[in-house]
Amino acid sequence: MNICDMPALLCIGHRGACGHEPENTLSSFSLAITMGSPWIELDVFSVEGELLVIHDDSLERTTNGDGEVMTSSLEYLRSLDAGGHQQIPFLHEVTELVDQRCGINIELKGPDTALPVSRFLTTLCDEGWDSQAFLLSSFDHAELERADPRFRRGALFHRAVPDYFNSTSDLGAYSINLSSRLITQKLIDEAHHNNLKVYVYTVNDLDEIRQMEALGVDGIFTDFPDRVLSATGHS
Ligand code: G3P
Ligand code: MG
Repeated sequence: MNICDMPALLCIGHRGACGHEPENTLSSFSLAITMGSPWIELDVFSVEGELLVIHDDSLERTTNGDGEVMTSSLEYLRSLDAGGHQQIPFLHEVTELVDQRCGINIELKGPDTALPVSRFLTTLCDEGWDSQAFLLSSFDHAELERADPRFRRGALFHRAVPDYFNSTSDLGAYSINLSSRLITQKLIDEAHHNNLKVYVYTVNDLDEIRQMEALGVDGIFTDFPDRVLSATGHS
């Protein structure tokens, strides 16, 4: 499949296929691709000039280490087991694994990630990647605004705000990425009226997947890409 051909309901493997493999690891991304997920999502931090793929500010939940990502040395972070005897991956290891086989939503999780991620993706585009194979997103809209505008932007929201479309308009956002708790038909219709795709996180339950599809969302972040793909007839 051409990674820029969007099926009616996009399956986005959340932290890979983290219902099956340790989140944000190479095995998780590999499984999502093997399952046929057209997109994956991951979270990045920038440490000592390197982009690392990890979700939490602190290390305890997903690794055998402790402390904060941003106050740890790169050497220490790379010495840890992020699950299944795998290291916390570098972003470049993920893109090497993906090798243009799926789209990648890079969530800017750590501070000061917009510029290094933009620089890195620009080098990939120079090597032949399609810029539309990437979606940059963040809850930190100010950080997202610093990203190179050649890359599509997804404005993340985890709680209701009075006006979703002020900030998405300032960002020139491509999508609005919403917690499933926030989803209403009215909001979906308004987003579409504002020319925005609606991507919803994190939906794992089959009935909820079908409900989201019926409401007309454009994409689902899921820990179980196999479920979304089978519910939508893509497996
Ligand atoms: O980008 C969708 C989702 O990943 C946002 O929340 O906490 O899972 O990164 P979180
Ligand atoms: Mg995320």
